[in-house]
Amino acid sequence: MTGRLDGKVAVITGGANGLGAEQVKLFTARGARVVIADILAEQGEDVARLCRQDGLDVGFITLDVTSEAAWTRLVQDVVARYGRLDILVNNAGISGMSVQHLAHADAWDRLVAINAKGAYLGMNAVLPEMERQGEGAIVNLGSIIGLVGSPFGNPGYAASKAAVSAQSRAMAVRMAPRGIRVNTVHPGFFPEMLNMPAGGRGDIAASIPMRRVGERAEIAAAVLFLASPDASYITGIDLVVDGGFTAQ
Ligand SMILES: NC(=O)c1ccc[n+]([C@@H]2O[C@H](COP(=O)([O-])OP(=O)(O)OC[C@H]3O[C@@H](n4cnc5c(N)ncnc54)[C@H](O)[C@@H]3O)[C@@H](O)[C@H]2O)c1
Repeated sequence: MTGRLDGKVAVITGGANGLGAEQVKLFTARGARVVIADILAEQGEDVARLCRQDGLDVGFITLDVTSEAAWTRLVQDVVARYGRLDILVNNAGISGMSVQHLAHADAWDRLVAINAKGAYLGMNAVLPEMERQGEGAIVNLGSIIGLVGSPFGNPGYAASKAAVSAQSRAMAVRMAPRGIRVNTVHPGFFPEMLNMPAGGRGDIAASIPMRRVGERAEIAAAVLFLASPDASYITGIDLVVDGGFTAQ
């Protein structure tokens, strides 16, 4: 079977919810030991507990991705517990839909701090351990809103996700000689983050060549592929998973 992660230790940020929780389930089902890292302790512990009930190896550590000190502690804890750290998925993010006063500077700061700086701090925190091991895979969650203009996208969110993509490529090139791969998955429109009335969702679906929003499992499968040895010669790419939206 492809997409196996046997023996791998993975950290998935934002794994308490939505697309991240789906990745947690898929990664563990494919043999990885997974640490969920999220600010939502209760929800994160619940996801981990449910996985453990199925005999899967999932833990939870509280992490605010904007805190460099918290990242340092997380990596220390993971390596102390498992002896290694093979995969980081920088999935935690905010959409901007939930940020009030979208035009204000503090909304932009918050989007960039969580989405772009959070991923940057995460990559830098895991690199020493991955370098020591001589291998590692990092998958960052971007967004098609960071690649193309869309009336549905918050411009601050677009800036934060374009930064994710750019810093992933830069990191990929720097780290390739050391065996560390860095790639970005760009989801299209998925119900979780839309937070819109059904009518709004219908308008979005009509604008997608496949005429539907995506399913969580379709993102998890792409993240798994890039994190797994199946993608051993792939680094620095932007993989869009969007039903054809950006191809139009
Ligand atoms: N769902 C979509 O339509 C869509 C589309 C494009 C991109 N994305 C990206 O996919 C990722 C996951 O999106 P989702 O829809 O599952 O979102 P979600 O809101 O369901 O989950 C995001 C998770 O990130 C966590 N988080 C937020 N701020 C954090 C912080 N400071 N530190 C640690 N954790 C934090 C939240 O607690 C939550 O568990 C995000 O990066 C998002 O930008 C989603």
